[in-house]
Amino acid sequence: MIQLGVVAGDGVGPEVTACGLEVLSAVGRIEDIDFQTVPFELGGERYLKTGDLLPDADIDGLRRCDAILLGAVGHPEVPPGVLEKGILLRLRFDFHQYINLRPIHLYTGVECPIKGKGPDDINMVVVRENNEDLYVGAGGFARRGTPEEVAIQTSINTRPGVERTIRFAFEQARRRASLGTFRGLSAVDRRQGFQRQVTLVAKTNVLTFAHDLWMRAFSEVSSEYPDIKSDYQHVDACCMRMITSPERFDVIVTTNMFGDIITDLGAVLQGGMGLAASGNLNPEKAAPSMFEPVHGSAPDIAGRGIANPLAAILSVAMMLDDLNLPRAAEKIRAAVRQVLLRPAPRTPDLGGHATTADVGRAVREALEA
Ligand code: NAI
Ligand code: MG
Repeated sequence: MIQLGVVAGDGVGPEVTACGLEVLSAVGRIEDIDFQTVPFELGGERYLKTGDLLPDADIDGLRRCDAILLGAVGHPEVPPGVLEKGILLRLRFDFHQYINLRPIHLYTGVECPIKGKGPDDINMVVVRENNEDLYVGAGGFARRGTPEEVAIQTSINTRPGVERTIRFAFEQARRRASLGTFRGLSAVDRRQGFQRQVTLVAKTNVLTFAHDLWMRAFSEVSSEYPDIKSDYQHVDACCMRMITSPERFDVIVTTNMFGDIITDLGAVLQGGMGLAASGNLNPEKAAPSMFEPVHGSAPDIAGRGIANPLAAILSVAMMLDDLNLPRAAEKIRAAVRQVLLRPAPRTPDLGGHATTADVGRAVREALEA
């Protein structure tokens, strides 16, 4: 029996999570896997009612789960940062989910916003450091609210935190060798025996302390992987190249802040926020990992039943991979692939008129067919 903690959260979170769970129970029936879902009512509504963010009883309950599915947190009536820091970041930190894995893959049938690029060109994965950097909340104000106000927010980078993230990225690249040799490698690279590539995305020319540490750790770890080409891009150039030549990226490893930003750009490359899935991983499995769509609570479309559930459904597939159920995961991805080959049903973000439930049902039916 696999126990799943479910934090549907705010806005479109509950709408897309319902579809994810529907698809999960379908694949469970087909593959004969027993899932027990345990709901946790966390998010803006509860906070506004009770002032609770993440009480100890909930964190203990979540810790006992094998994995966590999260919809989104973020509520228009709660000041920015309260829920994100008090719930989302707290879970990522307390459960040592130090990797945020974000695949960027354009499915056939989804229109790419970049002229002349297709599914062969957009197939990369971002390994985002998930426990450090500007997100740890180190900082403060002096003379707050005065004309001389000072605000400091410190980026924390530890050698073990950086190194384990980089190592994870090289291991990802090795796993991707099963997809064949990376197309972005030159003939010279191939002759040197490289099969896949890891690109460090940082800003070594300005962040001369933090990203010097990243670069040194990257060079040292890369020497253990003679089959993987190591590549470097400054983050600004990376943004430009993700648009002009996305085919040159295989695995990207980057900091928490830059990873947050470039994966929204990546989401657009793969057809929008409605399709981008992610996993917050504790690779040692000392605490549960947590799977969630990259998007937030989308208050502008919440409550209308038109959010695209595919990002949440693909996050369920990532969770199954992590639970070592790759066949079930692949069945979900195959069903999504099949649905996207057809012109309908599609939610409005993909140019259609279908509802969240229509798309969820189509995936379930493709799975059961
Ligand atoms: P957002 O991702 O919620 O929305 C950005 C845009 O994408 C909106 O136009 C929205 O309608 C669209 N969109 C998002 N998900 C979609 C879906 N499934 N189908 C179709 N369209 C979709 O980001 P935004 O507006 O910056 O943030 C809203 C709230 O969510 C804020 O409170 C923010 O802090 C929070 N947030 C939470 C995250 C999380 O729980 N992991 C991640 C990002 C933001
Ligand atoms: Mg983000």
